[in-house]
Amino acid sequence: MKKNRILSKKWYGLAFAALAALLLLACPAMKQATVRPPATIPGADYIGIDSCALCHPETVKNFKYARHAKLSVPLPDGKEILGCEACHGAGSLHMAAGGGRGKHIINPGKNPQTCYQCHPEVQAFFNLQYHHPLQEQGVSCNACHSPHGQDIMLPENKMVGRHNAPCVQCHQDQGRPFVFEHEALREDCTTCHNHHGSINDKMLVASDANLCLRCHAQISAEGSIELGDQNHASRLAQGPCWAAGCHTAVHGSNMNAHLRY
Ligand code: HEC
Ligand code: HEC
Ligand code: HEC
Ligand code: HEC
Ligand code: HEC
Ligand code: HEC
Ligand code: HEC
Repeated sequence: MKKNRILSKKWYGLAFAALAALLLLACPAMKQATVRPPATIPGADYIGIDSCALCHPETVKNFKYARHAKLSVPLPDGKEILGCEACHGAGSLHMAAGGGRGKHIINPGKNPQTCYQCHPEVQAFFNLQYHHPLQEQGVSCNACHSPHGQDIMLPENKMVGRHNAPCVQCHQDQGRPFVFEHEALREDCTTCHNHHGSINDKMLVASDANLCLRCHAQISAEGSIELGDQNHASRLAQGPCWAAGCHTAVHGSNMNAHLRY
C-alpha cells in the first residue's frame, strides 16, 4: 500500500510538472523544469525503451521507479519520446552498432548539457562564481543524483540515508560524528549551502550572520542581540559568526561545546 501511495504521488508530481512545463512555454518567467527534446544524433531514430532492455535489462528494470520514467517529450512532428532516449538521444545507430561506449549515444554523465535542456535553472546556479566543479573536475550530476534509480536525490548505488548522504561521500570531514555536534547538521547540508552553486564563498546561502540568525536570533528590546545568554550585538559587527576566534567549528567540534574550535 505504502509503495503504491508513493508511486502515485510521484506520478501526480510528474503529471503536474508536465502541465507546469506546458504553462512555462507561455510564461518564460517561471522557474521550473521544462521539457525539451535531447540533442539530435545525426541519422539516428528513436527506438523505444524495449529495445534498450535487450542489452541493458537491469537499468530498464530499475527505471520504472525513477523520477523521469513518466516523462513524455513532444517532438515537432507530433510524436513523443518516452523514457531512456529523453536523456540519451535517439538509439537506433547505437543499437545497430551492437552498443558500446562512445557509440552514437549521449552520456550525460560526461556532459550535463542534456540535463540543462530541461533544467535551465540548475545551469544558472552552476554558472555562479562558487559552484561544484562539474566540468572542471568531473563532479557530474550523478555524483548526487541517480537518474535511473528509485530516489533521484541519492547518488547512484546508495539506497538509504537521504539526508546529507550525497555530500558526505566526498566531504567526510564535515559529515563525521562529533563529540559536540551542531544540531543544524541534522537537517541537511543544504540548510547552509546551496548544493548547485551560489554567489557566496563556500556556496553558502548567506554570506553573513543571517546564515545563523535564521535559527538563533533572540533580539531583546534594548537593541541587544541575545545569543546563548550573551549579548552579541557588538560581536556581530565584527564579521560572520564563523570568523577566526569565533564559531569556526560550524560543522561540529570534538573540543568545545560552543563550537569555537
Ligand atoms: C545491442 C545491444 C544494445 C542495445 C540495444 C542498446 N545498448 Fe547501450 N550499450 C551497449 C553496450 C554493449 C554498451 C557498452 C557497455 C559497457 O562498456 O559497459 C552500451 C553503452 C551504453 C551507454 C554508455 C555510453 C558511453 O559512451 O558511456 C549508454 C548511455 C547506453 N548504452 C544507452 C542505451 C540506450 C538509451 C539504449 C536504447 C535506446 C541502448 N543503450 C540500447 C549495448 C546496447
Ligand atoms: C534523466 C536522464 C536519464 C534517463 C531518463 C536515463 N538515463 Fe541513462 N544515464 C544518465 C546519466 C546521467 C548517466 C551517467 C551515469 C554514470 O556515469 O554513472 C547515464 C548512464 C547510462 C548508461 C551507462 C552506464 C555506465 O556504466 O556508464 C547506460 C547503459 C544507460 N544510462 C542506460 C539507460 C537506459 C536503458 C535508460 C532507460 C531505461 C536510461 N539510461 C535512462 C541519465 C539518464
Ligand atoms: C526531457 C526533460 C528532462 C531531462 C532531459 C532531464 N530532466 Fe530532470 N526532470 C524533468 C521534469 C519535468 C521533472 C519533474 C518536474 C520538476 O520537479 O520540476 C524532473 C525532475 C528532476 C529532479 C527531481 C526534482 C524534484 O524536485 O524532485 C531531479 C533531481 C532531476 N530532474 C535531475 C535531472 C538530471 C540530473 C538530468 C540529466 C541526467 C535530468 N534531470 C534530465 C525533466 C527532465
Ligand atoms: C553536489 C551534489 C549535487 C550535484 C553535483 C548536483 N545536484 Fe542537483 N541537487 C542536489 C541537492 C542536495 C538537491 C536538493 C535536494 C532537496 O532539496 O531535497 C538537488 C536538487 C536538484 C533539483 C530539484 C530542484 C532544484 O533546483 O533544487 C534538480 C532539478 C537538480 N538538482 C538537477 C541537477 C542537475 C541537472 C545537475 C547536474 C548539472 C545536478 N543537479 C547536480 C545536489 C546536487
Ligand atoms: C563527487 C564528490 C562530491 C560530492 C558528492 C559533493 N561534493 Fe562538494 N565539492 C567537491 C569538490 C571536488 C569540491 C571542490 C573542492 C575544492 O575546490 O577544493 C567541492 C566543494 C564544495 C564546497 C566548497 C568548499 C571550498 O573550500 O570552497 C562546499 C561548501 C561543498 N562542496 C558542499 C557540498 C555539499 C553541501 C554537498 C551535497 C549536496 C556536496 N558538496 C557534495 C566534491 C563533492
Ligand atoms: C549551520 C550551517 C552549515 C551547515 C548545516 C553545513 N555547513 Fe558547511 N560550512 C558552513 C560555513 C559557515 C562554512 C564556511 C567556514 C569558513 O569559511 O571558515 C562552511 C564550509 C564548508 C566547507 C568548506 C571547508 C570548510 O570546512 O571550511 C565544506 C566542504 C562544507 N562546508 C561542507 C558541508 C557539508 C558536507 C555539510 C553537511 C554534512 C555542511 N557543510 C553543513 C556552514 C554550514
Ligand atoms: C537550521 C537551524 C540552525 C542554523 C541555520 C544554525 N544553527 Fe546553530 N544550532 C542550532 C540548534 C538547534 C542548536 C542546538 C540548540 C541550541 O544550543 O540552541 C545549535 C547550536 C549552536 C551552537 C552551540 C550553542 C552552545 O553554546 O551550546 C553554536 C555555537 C551554534 N549553533 C552556532 C551556529 C552558527 C555559527 C551558525 C551559522 C554558521 C548556526 N549555528 C546556524 C540550529 C541552527
